[in-house]
Amino acid sequence: MASAAHLLAQPLTLPNGSVLPNRLAKSALSETLGTMDNRVTPALVRLYERWAKGGTGLLITGNIMIDRRALGEPGNVVIEDDRDLPLLKAMAEGVASHGSKLWAQINHPGKQSPKGLNRENVSPSAIPFGKQMQAFFTTPRELTDVEILDIIARFGRAAGVVKQAGFHGVQIHGAHGYLVSQFLSPKHNIRTDAWGGTPENRRRFVLAVYQAMRDAVGPDFPIGIKLNSADFQRGGFTEEESLATIQALAAVGIDLVEISGGTYEAPAMAGKKTSTVEREAYFLEFAEKVRQHITTPLMVTGGFRTLTAMNAALGSGAMDVVGLGRPLCIEPDASKRLLAGEETRHRVKMISTGIKQIDDMALMEVMWYVRQLHRMSRGEEPKPKESALWSLLTNMLTNMRGTLKTRRLRAS
Ligand SMILES: Cc1cc2nc3c(=O)[nH]c(=O)nc-3n(C[C@H](O)[C@H](O)[C@H](O)COP(=O)(O)O)c2cc1C
Repeated sequence: MASAAHLLAQPLTLPNGSVLPNRLAKSALSETLGTMDNRVTPALVRLYERWAKGGTGLLITGNIMIDRRALGEPGNVVIEDDRDLPLLKAMAEGVASHGSKLWAQINHPGKQSPKGLNRENVSPSAIPFGKQMQAFFTTPRELTDVEILDIIARFGRAAGVVKQAGFHGVQIHGAHGYLVSQFLSPKHNIRTDAWGGTPENRRRFVLAVYQAMRDAVGPDFPIGIKLNSADFQRGGFTEEESLATIQALAAVGIDLVEISGGTYEAPAMAGKKTSTVEREAYFLEFAEKVRQHITTPLMVTGGFRTLTAMNAALGSGAMDVVGLGRPLCIEPDASKRLLAGEETRHRVKMISTGIKQIDDMALMEVMWYVRQLHRMSRGEEPKPKESALWSLLTNMLTNMRGTLKTRRLRAS
């Protein structure tokens, strides 16, 4: 037990010299706690302070968008300028006061945005979603070259703002089927210009995003990326291309690579598509392969539940940081227990409405967990036994209301 706690409690020095206080990280969890015009709220300040008290060394925010015209959900925070600096500063100060680090996950949804929320959705190519998802997502419009350059600049601008607010790092959301992931995928990016066609061209966007962020934050500020090991889709982004992308990012100085996998069409990040669940952490085998090629610190997220598995993974040398998502939604102090060599109090279980078609959708589970985040943001405790069907229905209503309000505000 003592050695398990010992490994998790070790600080980690990133290549640029900044130090993570221990090996536990909260992976990004989209809180949807912004206002309907996408501003930061005091609820976010409270939620992050609650997590920081729980001992997790690195807290990565839920995806922060960079364009009010391109939301992933109603209530996303959007950073286009410095209008929310005071509350962003309060978030960073609250986290730092407990010795943890706060990184902002920066994202653009591309086409992965529910029908009706944005006026239109964009993507590298106008490829529709698979049949099952077409009821929820529209076919996007192909981005122009000028728009691509604008989006790259927006990633940089958002990174500069959070640095100014006192955040300790940023993370590019390059996983789960959002825009960066769409550019990387040969299934979703069939462009024939400099942004598509070959693996090198498809990687051009993420490398340009990294560079725009680096230019905005300077050499000493950590920039990480969350990347899919693979998309788990026929004709999609493969492990070979993922490794090549990681090597390209390592060569230009990325500070931390978080490995995940899947998209809403094939939700491997939630453990629904992988074949390696018996190893608890879904993407550990891929991390082992990556480790043979690069020395950049690796974080692996998806499936970690027990002290024994976390310890074994760190002890193997294949990875450096344990990413936790759902466990910290139901037990914000889980890291304190793990660092003390104890198992967590609550175990993540499958969330089920009893209706198979609904249970198969990644979004249903996400909605259940979001309700737990909202409880914590009001100063309440999570409710690990909350009914899945009830949470689904109330969340659908909240989302519908949110979509209407967002559209009304945009029109006014
Ligand atoms: C409520 C919820 C919101 C999420 N939002 C994000 C997000 O904004 N960005 C992201 O990269 N991943 C997001 N994820 C995925 C998690 O970061 C994580 O990869 C996934 O839950 C697997 O880890 P776990 O098994 O420890 O939960 C979300 C997951 C949940 C449950």
